[in-house]
Amino acid sequence: MKDTFKNDINIGLSANEKSLPSKYFYDKIGDALFVKIMNLPEYYLTKAEFDIFKNQTQDIIDTLKIAPDTYFELIELGAGDGTKTKELLKVLSHKNYAFEYLPIDISLNALEQLETRLSKELPKVKVTKKQGDYFEVLEGLKNSHHPKVVLFLGSNIGNLGDAEAKTFISNLSDALNKNDKVLLGIDLIKPEHIVLPAYNDKAGVTKAFNFNLLHRINSELEADFNLQQFSHTPEYSENTGIAKSFIVSDKNQNVTIGALNKTFQFKAGEKIHTETSRKYNDDVLGSILKNSDLSIVTKLLDSNKYFADYILEKR
Ligand code: AVJ
Repeated sequence: MKDTFKNDINIGLSANEKSLPSKYFYDKIGDALFVKIMNLPEYYLTKAEFDIFKNQTQDIIDTLKIAPDTYFELIELGAGDGTKTKELLKVLSHKNYAFEYLPIDISLNALEQLETRLSKELPKVKVTKKQGDYFEVLEGLKNSHHPKVVLFLGSNIGNLGDAEAKTFISNLSDALNKNDKVLLGIDLIKPEHIVLPAYNDKAGVTKAFNFNLLHRINSELEADFNLQQFSHTPEYSENTGIAKSFIVSDKNQNVTIGALNKTFQFKAGEKIHTETSRKYNDDVLGSILKNSDLSIVTKLLDSNKYFADYILEKR
């Protein structure tokens, strides 16, 4: 585990264009910062998707075309705290749908907390937590021939580059049977004055989230990044729909990473790319789905039309 972290950091910082993988944001501190981000006034994504789950719950159920008496598996990739999903579970449970909820996450701790909360709030819902890598777990679920609905919410797919997203979709499709559904939550392409503040909030929480990468490298790999000498600089282009976060070196400086026995040079203004947050529209999603066996059935939008939950079906 620690070796992979060390190697990934070494590869990222040794490259001509420096980068660090965004998956390393999420240690205990990063998880807590992300919860704060979701509550920021500028971070519209979570509120918009919650709006869909809260106010269009029956539409979600109708478009998934599940019959109340057909047993199905509701699988969630990266369940988080389950706030949005709970709105759906509430209605399904209340209307006596026959189903099981299977949250998949890499963090056992997150799954246990979710399970405890659900057993109190929705005791009728059958919850089977699955700890591990998404696709390993999905592979294991392939033998069951119950209809499946897979939730992948929060625009988490946005962290992937388009080539990676295509691979992700094809792996997901391979784990499904004909007529199974995917509910894919994605942030929509919209003007810069709305997107950019979501990644550059006034309170500086997103900066702290971004800098948590340097903090982790300092404490876990005995490095000497001086966080005072770097800046947080997100960028967004409405043309491409891609937001990117960077950490920029404010001056020429050297950073030594003890665990690597190596010193890295940073030029004044040099950028480290730390995150991609892709935004979508029908065309972008269409090109990601092309050559896969998943097709768009419909999409549900929040009242501001900021965010979409797409319903996909396996052919
Ligand atoms: C959890 C990947 C959807 O890209 O919007 C929030 C993470 N990064 N603020 C996003 C994030 C900076 C978030 N996702």
